[in-house]
This record gives sequence, structure tokens and C-alpha cells, in this order.
Amino acid sequence: MTQQPIDILARPMRDLRISVTDRCNLRCTYCMPAEIFDKDHAFLPRGEILSYEEIVRLARIFVGLGVKKLRITGGEPTLRRDLPGLIAQLRAIEGVEDVALTTNGLLLTKLATHLRAAGLDRLTVSLDSLDDAIFGRINGRGVHVQAVLDGIAAAEAAGFERLKINMVVQRSVNDHEVVSMAKHFKNTGHIVRFIEFMDVGTTNGWRMDLVVPARDVIARIGAEMPLEPIDPNYRGEVAARYRYKDGMGEIGIISSVTVPFCGTCNRARLSAKGELFTCLFAGRGNDLRALLRNGTSDAGIEAAVRTIWTKRDDRYSEIRTALTAGGAGSKRVEMSYIGG
Ligand code: GTP
Ligand code: 5AD
Ligand code: SF4
Ligand code: SF4
Repeated sequence: MTQQPIDILARPMRDLRISVTDRCNLRCTYCMPAEIFDKDHAFLPRGEILSYEEIVRLARIFVGLGVKKLRITGGEPTLRRDLPGLIAQLRAIEGVEDVALTTNGLLLTKLATHLRAAGLDRLTVSLDSLDDAIFGRINGRGVHVQAVLDGIAAAEAAGFERLKINMVVQRSVNDHEVVSMAKHFKNTGHIVRFIEFMDVGTTNGWRMDLVVPARDVIARIGAEMPLEPIDPNYRGEVAARYRYKDGMGEIGIISSVTVPFCGTCNRARLSAKGELFTCLFAGRGNDLRALLRNGTSDAGIEAAVRTIWTKRDDRYSEIRTALTAGGAGSKRVEMSYIGG
């Protein structure tokens, strides 16, 4: 086994998040606002996007450098043809402990059983509201809540347990629903994760006053259904965990704005066109596709990734305040481009 790289802040690389497409069938205001991602928006042409063969080759190299978890994201990953085929190949890589998928859930009614059969370990479904009018506005396409709930039901029927349900909380948009969302999924075995609205990209109109601090969300839910904190599942877990004192399940809270967690960040991100990003807030990625397509050997690509990781000093969320004061409007990659 080759030596695993450690970055400048002593963080190993454990989690690789792979975006398989930059397209999506929704237009969530916080991610791909419809005014910007309209019919004139240039999505990546097919030839620019990594093939499954290229993705699997890179994944193998990353696993050799210490990655144990893979998360498939987008855009909306289920729009990519034969996603189960990719999952099966990734699951078969020796050393991979966990393959997870983040999806908006709309295509799960068709895909859930195939994803399960391919060996997908875990599913995360995004759902920001239980109210059709509010959800339709947030998702930018007027899609109804039931379409996502049907997807969740299909996932349950396919044998997925303990789904994670991601809710991005925005003040005066959906924050009045945090308690009803928690209640809806209490005692289902699923885990709702309340996520602070983040300033990813440059198009989602982020403002600090739209962020509802994680501690307020916990207080609101805890006032109705008493909660207690529990230990993380693993070092560097993004969500802080709480369980209901009555034993009826748990929730998670992702406080990337008010309580950043860069200190333990072991996540690498691969864009659909094969750029390696070492932070969600990076302005640019490192082009691995060029290496894949110019005949570089596996050892050569491994050396390039090792060098990139060894030089990594990203901790955007920890230094955000200083940056926002000084350099607002700087270039940053869009969330839909590298996934969550
Ligand atoms: P598990 O493997 O289940 O622990 O998943 P996860 O906690 O990595 O969660 P997921 O990938 O679903 O991430 C949930 C959300 O947390 C993302 O959609 C982002 O909003 C946020 N998030 C995840 N990773 C990072 C990160 O590295 N930095 C920041 N600032 N936010 C992140
Ligand atoms: N802030 C926080 N989370 C976001 N996501 C996308 N955009 C944002 C943002 N601006 C996350 C959501 C969604 C996943 C695909 O990406 O958690 O579920
Ligand atoms: Fe699509 Fe997910 Fe972004 Fe919404 S959050 S626009 S569903 S990629
Ligand atoms: Fe990791 Fe960057 Fe997020 Fe910090 S801001 S946790 S370094 S991805």
C-alpha cells in the first residue's frame, strides 16, 4: 500500500464525491436558480463529461490514496443513463466501504430497485418543504411534494433503510416548517438533516440574514419534541446528531455557516468533466480529464492527485467572514456543478 497523502492541515482524503452530470430536472432557488439556468444556459456537452470507464479508473486511483466512501451527486445524478451500472462498478472496487447517492428523489420510482440491486449502500433525498406551494416555488418547477414522497416510498420498498432527508432551511421561506418536517419523519427510521443555507456559487442570492442558525433549529424542534445530542458516527461527520428522548429516531443538523467543520474535512470532489476540487468553495478545479485523455499512466495520475492533496489548505467556511468583508463577489464554482 502506498503512503496516503495528508494535507497542510493534517487532513487525510477519505470521501470522494463524484458529480456525474451538471444537469437537473429541478431549479431549486438556492442551487440552480431558473433565471440563470434557463434555456440559454450552456450545460456540458456529452464529450466533455467523463465516461463511466474514466470515472471508475479515477475512483480506483483515489481509493488507493485513502478514499473509503464514494458519494454520487450531480446536478441530478439519476438523469445520467445507466446509473446502476456505474454504481455496480464502483461498489466492486476493493477498499470501497460505502457508496451513497444524493438525489431529488423524482426518478426513484423507476430506479430504486435497480440501484439497490447494483449494491448502492445509502440514499439521501432532498426535500425542503411539505407544502406544495412552498416546495413548488423552491424547486422552481412547481413539482409537488408527493412526487418526492413517492420516490422515498419506492426506496423503502426496494430495501433502503435509514434514508437521509436533506432540508435546506431559509428564513421566511421554509423555516416555519422545521418542526412539521421533523414530525413527519419521526419514527420512520429516516433521518432529516436541517442544513444552513450556504453561500456556494455566486448566483443564489445568499444573504446572512436568510441563514437560520443550527442552534435555533434545534431549539425549535426540541421545544416540542425533547432532543439530546449523540456522538458522531465517524470523525469528521458533517451533520451533528441528535436523538429524540422518547427513542423515536434521530435528526441531523449541518451548521456549515455558523459552526464550520473544515478542521476535519476529508472530502475531495470530482466534477462531471473531471476536475478535482479540494473545497466546495473553490474557484477552480484541477483538470484530471486532461491526464486521463493524454495517455498518463495510473501512477502518473496518482502522483498528480497526491501533489494536489498535499498542498491543500482550504478552510473556506472558517474564514468566510473575513472573505465576505474583503472580497465579496469572487469567483466560485456552482453547487450544481460539483454536487453537495
Ligand atoms: P454522510 O455520508 O451520510 O455522513 O453524508 P454527508 O454528511 O457527507 O452528507 P451529504 O453529502 O448529504 O451533505 C449534506 C450537505 O452538507 C451538503 O448538501 C452540503 O450542503 C453540506 N456539506 C457537505 N459537505 C460539505 C463540506 O465539505 N463543506 C461544507 N461547507 N458543506 C458541506
Ligand atoms: N446551501 C446548502 N445546501 C445546498 N445544497 C445545494 N445548494 C445548497 C446551498 N446553497 C445541498 C442540499 C441538497 C444537495 C443536493 O445540495 O443539501 O440536498
Ligand atoms: Fe437539482 Fe439538487 Fe440543485 Fe435542486 S439542489 S437544483 S434538485 S441539483
Ligand atoms: Fe471542506 Fe471547504 Fe467545506 Fe471547509 S468549506 S468543510 S474545507 S469543503
